[in-house]
Amino acid sequence: MVESFGNFKRDKYCGEVSLEDVGRELKVCGWVHRVRNHGGVIFIDLRDREGIVQVVVEEKTDPEAYEKADRVKPEWVIGVRGEVRRRPEGTENPKLKTGYVEIKAREIRIFNTSDPPPFPVDEETHVSEEIKLRYRYIDLRREFMKENLLFRHRFYQVVRRFFEEEGFVEIETPFLTKSTPEGARDFIVPSRLHPGKFYALPQSPQLFKQILMVAGFDRYFQIVKCFRDEDLRADRQPEFTQIDFEMSFVSEEDVMDVVERLVVRLFKELLGVELRRPFDRIPYEEALSRFGTDKPDRRFGLELIDLTDVFKNTKFKVFRNAIEQGGVVKAINFKNGNLSRKEIDELTVFVQKLGAKGLAWIKVEKGKLTSPIVKFFSEEETEKLLERVKAEEGDVIFFSADREEIVHRILGSLRLELAGRYSLVDGQKWDVVWVVDFPLMEWDEEEGRFVSLHHPFTAPKEEDEEKLREALKTEDLEERKRIVHAVRARAYDLVINGEEVGGGSIRIHRSDLQETVFKLLEISEEEAKDKFGFLLEALRFGAPPHGGFAFGLDRLVALMRGLDSIRDVIAFPKTQKGICMLTSAPDRVTPGQLKDVHIKVVE
Ligand code: AMO
Ligand code: AMP
Repeated sequence: MVESFGNFKRDKYCGEVSLEDVGRELKVCGWVHRVRNHGGVIFIDLRDREGIVQVVVEEKTDPEAYEKADRVKPEWVIGVRGEVRRRPEGTENPKLKTGYVEIKAREIRIFNTSDPPPFPVDEETHVSEEIKLRYRYIDLRREFMKENLLFRHRFYQVVRRFFEEEGFVEIETPFLTKSTPEGARDFIVPSRLHPGKFYALPQSPQLFKQILMVAGFDRYFQIVKCFRDEDLRADRQPEFTQIDFEMSFVSEEDVMDVVERLVVRLFKELLGVELRRPFDRIPYEEALSRFGTDKPDRRFGLELIDLTDVFKNTKFKVFRNAIEQGGVVKAINFKNGNLSRKEIDELTVFVQKLGAKGLAWIKVEKGKLTSPIVKFFSEEETEKLLERVKAEEGDVIFFSADREEIVHRILGSLRLELAGRYSLVDGQKWDVVWVVDFPLMEWDEEEGRFVSLHHPFTAPKEEDEEKLREALKTEDLEERKRIVHAVRARAYDLVINGEEVGGGSIRIHRSDLQETVFKLLEISEEEAKDKFGFLLEALRFGAPPHGGFAFGLDRLVALMRGLDSIRDVIAFPKTQKGICMLTSAPDRVTPGQLKDVHIKVVE
């Protein structure tokens, strides 16, 4: 039943057959997308990577081909030889690239049959993501997925051309390596030759790219897989791809300039969108205080407004308690929100799930204030408040009173929730912004020590370097916190439409400064030597000043395609639980394999 392929050399992709081919005989190959039998005439939509072409088979003129066309089913693989002709008037399909032509089949070859597919190759049928990922090869036949991957391919090519033109050298770095601290857990690989020892898969090529600078390569780039064992979300995968680069003899401005020009090029060549340069910059503190997050989405208003000073002597207990305990009171004004009580109650539940104690609110309605709380305010407080938030008819004002970081988290999330629920985002807009002036370290309550905001190799601002040494001198923890928190990093994150698409920094290139930073992070000399000894050593052999950046490629591609999940731009992604549905990884291994690597599994 299935025929040999022999030498059925195709002339074109199905999706490329056009009016220019009218009158020619062509061979095409592909998958049966749809069959319609009109009795005596059969229409087959034949599909390949480039699209779909209509094949017409007539019983009268081509009985042998007709007999086969009568048998084929969706997803069978066939070849068709026939003459291209213009479709009769009135039967054209302007939605298809090939909509003005059809192939009148003379010969059909059935190369392979197909079991009935688990779901149809179309965009309409709703199929659970697990099923789609299990049969990813069927899912990838869909126009949507195919276009995402072809876009990603074009994206790689623009990146490679750009770095080639700019004099960057592409160098691969190892996957079987030692831990690179980027704040996640490592995936580890046991060693057969060294019992009890393990490789770690790199969380990023950070240390190797710095060492390539010490080696003198000056400008390096790589499109590279990174591995992080962390809890997964729509924008996170355990293995993901970075565009990683590093440069020598540069300052922040040089690195940011390369990033900006690459982003502008990608948007122009792939989307036809002209982004304006230079990109805006916003200091970390300002991003937090205005948007409640270091990944601000500025495409809609709803900025956070500080009211702590207005309520410092208030009789309203909720606010007063928060302020007395060193917290803040902030509000966002949903201009002309006109929300109902029910809607406000839903939003209250939303913030409570995030850990808010409540959601105080005021509605400006028919020239009056509706609110469960204004009765507790003095006249002066109300007046100042309304002026500060620029209250007008229809506005709904939401308040959060708590520790500053909680207020920022709550109102930052509420902002995004309101924007999502009430479609406040202009889908045509691109908000591209640098977040700069990050603190170098912050105090981690849980761990009871300082942790790097970026990573421990990020340089402090030159004018702040002395403070680090000063901080080490004091034993008083509160004093040390005060000094360290004032040290800013030479780091920069790129945020597009509220998503962190990349980050980088100028690095520490002197081993003495690196050692100071390790000390403050309470990484002992021994631990530092054990984990990063090779880097500290390399820094002593003529390390040039250097810095770099890494894009989250999956995130940027998803964003440019307007997609919420990076799984849609990855050929074989994992589920939220870290499972590859196609291969069922992770899986058990044989006792022999375990023995080889000296591992015993304890159930
Ligand atoms: P960072 O840790 O910020 O920096 O990573 C760079 C970018 O990678 C993306 N990203 C992810 N994407 C998908 N899934 C994940 N689990 C994931 N984790 C991170 C983000 C992020 O902005 N070595 C430094 C860069 C440098 O300093 O040069 C680094 O890895 O978009
Ligand atoms: P209560 O006095 O606890 O009934 O609160 C009065 C109003 O303040 C209610 O609308 C609560 O939702 C709100 N509220 C309570 N705690 C907070 C808080 N920490 N921040 C903002 N609003 C709050």
